[in-house]
Amino acid sequence: DKSLRKYAKNSNILIGTAIESIQLEDIKFAETLKREFNYITPENSMKWGFIHSKRYEFDFDRADKIVDFALKNNMKVRGHTLIWHIENPEWLLKLENDTSVNFENILAYHIKTVVKHYKGKVYAWDVINEALEYNRYKETFWYKNIGEDYIEKALKWTHKEDPNAKLFINDNMIEEINPKSDFLYELVNNLLSKNVPLDGIGFQFHLKLNNSLDMESVEKNIKRFLELGLEINFTEVDIETEGELTEEKLEKQATIYKKLMILVKKYDKVTAFTTWGLSDKYSWIVREYDNKNPGLIFDEEFNPKLAYYKIKEIL
Ligand code: XIL
Repeated sequence: DKSLRKYAKNSNILIGTAIESIQLEDIKFAETLKREFNYITPENSMKWGFIHSKRYEFDFDRADKIVDFALKNNMKVRGHTLIWHIENPEWLLKLENDTSVNFENILAYHIKTVVKHYKGKVYAWDVINEALEYNRYKETFWYKNIGEDYIEKALKWTHKEDPNAKLFINDNMIEEINPKSDFLYELVNNLLSKNVPLDGIGFQFHLKLNNSLDMESVEKNIKRFLELGLEINFTEVDIETEGELTEEKLEKQATIYKKLMILVKKYDKVTAFTTWGLSDKYSWIVREYDNKNPGLIFDEEFNPKLAYYKIKEIL
């Protein structure tokens, strides 16, 4: 039987998952990863708190392990992420309100150093992650200290350092047409009209079984971003189920996965489908929300779930 990766290759789709370097030491994990996927996102190890935990030092070890594994196995890497409001180091947060600090220099230095280190190795960067709140900019550290054009500056700095990397803005709850995706649409339209380098939008798709999406609205939304000439990646798919896991819930979950993959298959410029974790064994939803059913496509023993077979049918 062919793996997801083999089908994905024929369909020209990137099929990805988010990982930590330590998981590569789990043999079953590593085997499944290279058999089934061709795209890897470091789940945490490229975030500031991990890669830049001291002001004048970078720690690339964890992320390097992931990138080396990916390249060795002919996979592409999604760099995640150059800017986020969470998982930032203490030293950075302490500078807030310090008027003697040049925040643009700090951000530019971070981007320059990290992007340069991975130049030619990271295929696409989530330059900006979760910068919006409902119908406006989120008042993050960078927003407050630099102003709203930190976004365009970051995109330019990244592009300058690695002109071949694809640059993304990634966010949650922008999958449907709603005030947040409307705001994003205006924002990127404006960036593009100013020739700011930007290749695509990442739709996260952290879903819960019970409040599923209006797929028509999702498709309309996808279309309007594609019409701007952008590409789209599904970047963090998981479909959490609450309460006891039943056949019925697994089926419903598999159907949602299938609907998402149908959209990926249908539009050439929807280029990637990434789940936020490979197996339920290591999902953030288990760790952080104490829910044993985070809804990935492999169970804790790395057996494929119904959703796996359903997306394969489409791929
Ligand atoms: C999460 C990781 O999975 C957790 O391990 C970490 O503690 C917090 O971050 N949206 C994102 C991801 O863009 O970076 C987040 O990852 C999940 C939500």
